[in-house]
Amino acid sequence: MKSFFYFPLILQLLLFVGAFAVTKIIPTDPGIGATTAQFYSGDSPFFDGPKLDFVNGTSFDWWYFDAVSSDGSYQLTITFYTTVATTLGFATGFGTTNFVTFTAMYPNGTEYQQFGFAGPVVISDGLFGIEGNWTGTGFIFSGTADLSYYRIDIDSPALGIEGCMEFNSVAPAHYPANPYIPGENVSMHLSPVIGWANAIPDSIATIDFKLSGVGVLQFTGSGYHDKNWGIEPLPQAVKSWYWGHGHLGPYSIVWFDTLNYDGTEKVNGYLACDGKIIGVSASGLTARPTGANSTYPPTSTTGNPGGFHIVAWEPALPVGGYTRWVGQITGGFVGQKKYKGSSVWEWIRFVL
Ligand SMILES: *[C@@H]1O[C@H](CO)[C@@H](O)[C@H](O)[C@H]1NC(C)=O
Ligand SMILES: *[C@@H]1O[C@H](CO)[C@@H](O)[C@H](O)[C@H]1NC(C)=O
Ligand SMILES: *[C@@H]1O[C@H](CO)[C@@H](O)[C@H](O)[C@H]1NC(C)=O
Ligand SMILES: *[C@@H]1O[C@H](CO)[C@@H](O)[C@H](O)[C@H]1NC(C)=O
Ligand SMILES: *[C@@H]1O[C@H](CO)[C@@H](O)[C@H](O)[C@H]1NC(C)=O
Repeated sequence: MKSFFYFPLILQLLLFVGAFAVTKIIPTDPGIGATTAQFYSGDSPFFDGPKLDFVNGTSFDWWYFDAVSSDGSYQLTITFYTTVATTLGFATGFGTTNFVTFTAMYPNGTEYQQFGFAGPVVISDGLFGIEGNWTGTGFIFSGTADLSYYRIDIDSPALGIEGCMEFNSVAPAHYPANPYIPGENVSMHLSPVIGWANAIPDSIATIDFKLSGVGVLQFTGSGYHDKNWGIEPLPQAVKSWYWGHGHLGPYSIVWFDTLNYDGTEKVNGYLACDGKIIGVSASGLTARPTGANSTYPPTSTTGNPGGFHIVAWEPALPVGGYTRWVGQITGGFVGQKKYKGSSVWEWIRFVL
């Protein structure tokens, strides 16, 4: 009697769960013809899910994660891609649209970098969170539906990587020019052909890996996760972009400054303090290189800048003094307490 009664209940529950979760399988070959990308949050059922109808030969959809130790001396970047590699500007394809990259940097300058080529990608997203399995690589990421917790688990004897990275968010998610408010329909356009959704602008990160031949990679610090997608090859879609994020004192900051081929500049910025958003904007913030090599707009012969000066909402929040991918930053509102923190920055450019 009892089991007869309970069984349909469990079935009903499974059906209920099924209705609020979507599982997508992304094959290793690009699809033929025009695909459709979601650029409005109202048309995209879940914040961090795949944003392309299918991956074709000139579109991309990726999930990016990084962590930097509190003193800026360790860095780890892990990215899950679904795209033909040439779409990102690689000289040749990889024979699969599905691949992962892992790049770790030790304080003594030792770098550990691996590429993993995957079979079909299985991503499920729904009321119980997201899980992405890049099958064949041993790389899996997962996160809760409220975007408060993410983790990456890696079990890859082939790439010599075993362990996990965990993020406990300290800054609310956002779109390019709006905070994330479930149910709201806002633009996810970073440019007419590129989308951006920043699930974890800042978090407390715990990293614990064993890397073959190098040893352990263990640190705590600040973790970041976002995703980008687009419907044109990256070198065509944007001429140059400065992107970065930092954590200092109670502040979390993210900036994205893109320069388009028509000479227009689009700037997106985000500033949170103690877990509350102070500003999300498509204006009010500019990223400019400083020191050596600070030609702006950059040309093909411009080297790496000596630093960046980020101006966020008056009064200014100055940041600078680092030339690598990762470093220490100092900042604060003018006339108020200054903080030291860690940051990661990136300069991508396709300047002819
Ligand atoms: C991929 O889809 C985009 C967006 O619909 C389209 O503009 C592009 O031409 C497609 N690429 C290929 C190779 O079909
Ligand atoms: C969201 O807004 C866009 C742009 O205004 C519109 O095209 C789309 O239909 C809207 N989606 C929903 C679900 O309201
Ligand atoms: C990921 O996919 C692989 C290959 O299909 C499978 O063996 C593994 O169990 C999956 N992992 C999870 C956590 O679902
Ligand atoms: C740098 O650190 C790594 C990790 O601890 C270690 O394996 C490597 O031998 C070190 N390299 C040098 C040149 O000390
Ligand atoms: C400026 O660029 C040149 C050429 O790429 C490079 O050698 C130099 O190290 C750069 N300066 C700084 C401060 O990074």
